Amino acid sequence: MERTLILVKVDGVQRRLVGKILSRFEAKGLKIAGLKFRQFAREVIEEHYGEHRDKPFFPNVVGFMTSGPVCAIVLEGPEAVSVCRKLIGQTQSREADPGTIRGDLGISRQFNLVHGSDSTESAEREIALWFQEDELVDYTLCDEQWLDD
Ligand code: CDP
Ligand code: MG
Repeated sequence: MERTLILVKVDGVQRRLVGKILSRFEAKGLKIAGLKFRQFAREVIEEHYGEHRDKPFFPNVVGFMTSGPVCAIVLEGPEAVSVCRKLIGQTQSREADPGTIRGDLGISRQFNLVHGSDSTESAEREIALWFQEDELVDYTLCDEQWLDD
């Protein structure tokens, strides 16, 4: 079983899409292991996007992601990292495949609604950044045996 970090970004919250986006992941078969909603400190956002620190879009993405509340979610499931990246679609929403979250709900590159960890290493780092150990919940869903083999 794998865990990944998902963020419904500020644009997703402003567009009232938190429920719709979360339901796409739930419907796929992923399990919520952690969930919080708040306006996060600039330090958390800068650390989260640390790999992009030297890119020209870094100040914009940090400004945007600190401008309002974000919904942070830890999802669990078989190959959760790659499954979620596929569901999310590519960075430029205009080019994201229909059927993906960005492809269906967005038309922007910066304001692309949702973040998903890009590897198991990133997932581990990002989950530790956004959640304390005791904020993650271990439990069993009644249909779990029907969702993996
Ligand atoms: O989110 P994803 O992993 O698909 O893309 P990324 O390359 O890791 O970039 C992180 C985020 O920065 C994107 O999701 C966009 O919100 C933003 N970005 C941007 O505003 N302009 C770019 N040229 C590239 C990324
Ligand atoms: Mg990324």
